[in-house]
Amino acid sequence: MLSLLEQMLVQTFDERSGAGTPVAFQRSGCNFLINSVEGFPMKNILFAASEGVPFIKTGGLADVVGSLPKCIDKKYFDVRVIIPKYACMKQELKDKLNYVTHFYMDYNWKNVYVGILEAEEDGVHYYFIDNETYFNGPKPYSDDPRWEIERYAFFSKAVLSALPVIGFRPDVIHCHDWQTGLIPVYLKERFREGDFFRGIKSIITIHNLKFQGRWDTKTVQNITGLPEYYFTPDKLEAYKDANLLKGGIVYADAVTTVSDTYAEEIKTPFYGEGLDGLLRARSRDLRGIVNGIDYTDFNPETDKHIPYPYNAVNFRKEKVKNKKDLQQELGLRQDDKKMMIGLVSRLTDQKGLDLIAYVMDELCQDDIQLVVLGTGEERYENMFRHFDWKYNDKVSANIYYSDPLSHKIYAACDAFLMPSLFEPCGLSQLMALRYGTIPIVRETGGLKDTVAPYNEYESTGTGFSFTNYNAHEMLNTIRYAEHIYYDKKREWNKLVDRAMAADFSWHVSAARYQEMYDWLIG
Ligand code: GLC
Repeated sequence: MLSLLEQMLVQTFDERSGAGTPVAFQRSGCNFLINSVEGFPMKNILFAASEGVPFIKTGGLADVVGSLPKCIDKKYFDVRVIIPKYACMKQELKDKLNYVTHFYMDYNWKNVYVGILEAEEDGVHYYFIDNETYFNGPKPYSDDPRWEIERYAFFSKAVLSALPVIGFRPDVIHCHDWQTGLIPVYLKERFREGDFFRGIKSIITIHNLKFQGRWDTKTVQNITGLPEYYFTPDKLEAYKDANLLKGGIVYADAVTTVSDTYAEEIKTPFYGEGLDGLLRARSRDLRGIVNGIDYTDFNPETDKHIPYPYNAVNFRKEKVKNKKDLQQELGLRQDDKKMMIGLVSRLTDQKGLDLIAYVMDELCQDDIQLVVLGTGEERYENMFRHFDWKYNDKVSANIYYSDPLSHKIYAACDAFLMPSLFEPCGLSQLMALRYGTIPIVRETGGLKDTVAPYNEYESTGTGFSFTNYNAHEMLNTIRYAEHIYYDKKREWNKLVDRAMAADFSWHVSAARYQEMYDWLIG
């Protein structure tokens, strides 16, 4: 390994531009960027992930990676983020990246190029790992699981190899999901020697246990170069396959997930995706920290995407104007009294869409409108297209993704439907609450932790919820919400008051991450 480092050092010059600028790194002294503010040593944290807003997003993971680092206290922590440089990133974002350096890394029996770029975004320093073979596709992820493993095992090794080159020594590497699961493993294996790497701690945050990065042991061993020793059932192997997320969970110093309820659920066979035994075994090091959302980006008072901004005081008059506007835009019947229900989601099994499919005809007999936005599995895309055709003035299926339209939906709708089968945290319900759009959810994972069920006797709660994964239980709950909306408007408006007063900005959860970093670093 040391020889690799040395090799890299030789190449820490800007060869491409010919400028010959050495990067900030001193071999012997290892200037690890230990800063100091008011006498406190700065703690360095590196987020490693496969996506992050604004550079690249397919789901909620990107929102978390893009927003949490901004909210970690800069007086005590220097938080930086490292993600792949995807060719499919928007050109205007690629234009923001600056070349830092490159080197060659021994990987999968080859000597492969690792480029490093950087950018500053909203006060957060981003690094990008560049390799055109691995990150050149038309989408961030491919449909080939073996290839995905090769790409992200490359990313994981490249992240660690890049650190001495860029001269940033994190005290903690905060990994996210299976794509970075090998970082804690490599940290304990080939990157454990020497002053630079010794003592670096790692955390893995599970955003979705369903995706684990699995492939046959022999191939993964061959690709990653990890010795056979690591491929046993107490380490990377699970049910005869190699499993990258499992590696992360076994080797990270702490494991977190994105809500308290999900942290409990994944210790059970139903939600555990085969890893519940391991998660029970690691339960002392496993904690749930609920996600927040960016309260600047999601603010109905200043949102540039919505035609009629509003706030907690004037929503009674102003919010509804957004509904009329959206009805017109989407070709729905224009009637501001109609209850409009929104659904912005990846169209996958996780989101409970089979429940909706099952009762859609019944639901469409009600006095409601349904606005859908998202892409995903073809059968769900077609299901919504079909109902859009069948109930043209009631259902609007927008089978694509658009950020501006999502904001308009949060602002325009009265209620927001999210009947997930499982939901590690869920961010859309938080966005809905922020916009005074009442969530109707199944009580699972983060949905249970963030939506307080309406109690008509005590006049409490911020939404409607049901327990069992049952289509008619969902339909009854929607109908109960319809009843409050149409027959008890004052109660409904009080629900909106409470929803808009709920605080799911990052500050509480960011403090919990900071406590964890402090505790790990000691
Ligand atoms: C995944 C989960 C979602 C969570 C998000 C961010 O997309 O499915 O529930 O909110 O990650 O943590």
